[in-house]
Amino acid sequence: MNSSLFTLLLQLFDALVDSSKDPEDDHRREDAFGSLVGEGSAAAKDINQESKPQAHHPDRYHPFEPAINLCFFCLGILFHPAILTYFVIIPQTNRKRAMQDFETFLADHMPTVDTFHPQYNEALQAMLLAGGKRFRPRLLLGIVEAYQPLLLESAMHPALALEVFHTYSLIHDDLPAMDDAALRRGHPTLHTRYDDALAILAGDALNTHAFEILAQSPFRDDVRIELVRILAENGGSGGMVLGQAIDLHFEKHPLHLDEVLELHRNKTAKLIAASLEMGAVIVGLELPVRRALYDFGIELGLLFQVQDDILDATLSSEEAGKPTNHDQDKNSFITLLGLEGAQAYADGLAESLEERFSGFDAPLRKALEPLMRQYLFRHRTPVKK
Ligand code: IPE
Ligand code: IPE
Ligand code: MG
Ligand code: MG
Ligand code: MG
Repeated sequence: MNSSLFTLLLQLFDALVDSSKDPEDDHRREDAFGSLVGEGSAAAKDINQESKPQAHHPDRYHPFEPAINLCFFCLGILFHPAILTYFVIIPQTNRKRAMQDFETFLADHMPTVDTFHPQYNEALQAMLLAGGKRFRPRLLLGIVEAYQPLLLESAMHPALALEVFHTYSLIHDDLPAMDDAALRRGHPTLHTRYDDALAILAGDALNTHAFEILAQSPFRDDVRIELVRILAENGGSGGMVLGQAIDLHFEKHPLHLDEVLELHRNKTAKLIAASLEMGAVIVGLELPVRRALYDFGIELGLLFQVQDDILDATLSSEEAGKPTNHDQDKNSFITLLGLEGAQAYADGLAESLEERFSGFDAPLRKALEPLMRQYLFRHRTPVKK
């Protein structure tokens, strides 16, 4: 493809040079050169007069013709099917394929146990198959796509572990003892479809299953141990679980902004930061880069939760796929700052993230740009979930 593209470019360039040439040009150039050399500056005027094209060849020559041709030439190159395919269509298709591959991988790796329990397997699988944004897997796969695309297939395992773990947290979050929600991802929650006991147990099973997936993922031992550690530290007792405990303990007890930030950093941001860090571990990024990505993930996770709170206050439950106007007793960003305050706060976070993102290196920006475009300002143009 490269050699034929090169030949095509050469032909286009020849055509451009030919077409921009007016036969009279050479004479004009000669005259002008002679004037400048032989007759001094007075002759410069003559050049201008001489080169008034309309007087001589109104329909054959236009002063901007070369520039116009050059523009067409550049546009021709820019929109040439080969260029579009190589720089736009293939990367987009690859990204779409990565997510389709993830959905296929997820469907092919449903937790399944050999049992006579009539609903057990269905309960393990229902919420995973119900959909969701797959935000955390997309972050991890974005890092891998940027630096080691050949590892994308192996990276499906930890990406799945993240989604399985996150789904467990949602199943428990919806329980009557927690947020008491009847709808999740557009479907009845597990405790309404079955009973509390099975929902609790399905959550427990998915929690431990996530670590089983990591332990069996196709990486070196040290990488697998690091992935297990990161998920446990950020999702467990000092991460998501702690955040949920603070969230529920302080219902109807307003907290200060720094406490609310601490709540959401644990409840939501740490798992999002962990997704980026796990990607960084898989591709072997240096510790300072890993830390920078983790910090970026914490800020991104806070934004994600502010937006989630805004969507709770602004979307219908049908649009959100889960109950909305559900956070009145919570220390949400809306109860703390009001809708406009939360939107302004989200704007600030999004702008700061945008600036940090622009400092990332080119491959990373390229891989994560669609996700950032979709999510950084979603509180301004709410998307259906
Ligand atoms: C919802 O997470 C819970 C929060 C941490 C805000 P998501 O908004 O990622 O939910 P799904 O995965 O798309 O269903
Ligand atoms: C839950 O936060 C975050 C989790 C750790 C699951 P929310 O309670 O705000 O999530 P939604 O709005 O029910 O999805
Ligand atoms: Mg909750
Ligand atoms: Mg909830
Ligand atoms: Mg919420």
